[in-house]
Amino acid sequence: MENKDNKRRPTCFDFITRKAQGHKIASLSLYDTPTAKIAEDCGIDLLLVGDSLGMTVLGHKNTIPVTMDDMLRHSAAVRRGAEKSFIVADMPFMSYQTSVEDAMKNAARFLQESSCDAVKIEGGKDMAETIRRLVSAGIPVMAHIGLLPQKLLTSGGYRKIGSSVAESNDLLSDAKAVEDAGAFCVVLECVEDKLAGKISKKLKIPTIGIGSGELCDGQIQVVHDVLGLLEDFIPKHAKRYANLAKEIRRALSSYAADVRK
Ligand code: KIV
Repeated sequence: MENKDNKRRPTCFDFITRKAQGHKIASLSLYDTPTAKIAEDCGIDLLLVGDSLGMTVLGHKNTIPVTMDDMLRHSAAVRRGAEKSFIVADMPFMSYQTSVEDAMKNAARFLQESSCDAVKIEGGKDMAETIRRLVSAGIPVMAHIGLLPQKLLTSGGYRKIGSSVAESNDLLSDAKAVEDAGAFCVVLECVEDKLAGKISKKLKIPTIGIGSGELCDGQIQVVHDVLGLLEDFIPKHAKRYANLAKEIRRALSSYAADVRK
């Protein structure tokens, strides 16, 4: 499913086929045109415009302040850089929790105004009806269970989910509920590794893990973490493949020194 020159843009069904064929899915959360262009050229399978935008780009402490306007602007920018990629837009806090009607109206804006291919919403059984309605209206949905950043203020912070029997059973039923509701894939965030493997075996739709071990059907990382762009906070599950913050510091200092000479 690599997006080299004349390949067509994937559909949500391609990801289910990819799982059935045993291929892993490489996904990236990113927010702008130039990065999206590079990610597409490098064969990233699925681009997510995550509401992690709040912390990585907008300087907020968490995802709660991120608005529909923020997400629409950045998802449109990502689409401008990656015409052939499958792009998912993260629905921000309170754009879908208030009612199914709000979810439908706001989700439609990502398809109509930013040309995204799908939306992502956080939640399991509690969001099953919303997912069902979105999918039946023609909007592909990526679900997101496990650690839910939009519930950070009521859930007691960042931690692994699924260590007790009760929590593990709850997550298994959440996973089944979002699949049955029609989600085409599900993000597992900070789920105990073995449990993530069990969920991945149980579902036909692909699981995309972050901080959930290697047994998921795909992985997602935030581009700023992969590139080492953030210096103040590095999440435990971040996988660094470069240290661009250091490189940017070196380049900007050289530039400033050059000008002053
Ligand atoms: O906001 C985001 O980038 C995400 C991914 C890390 C799954 O939700």
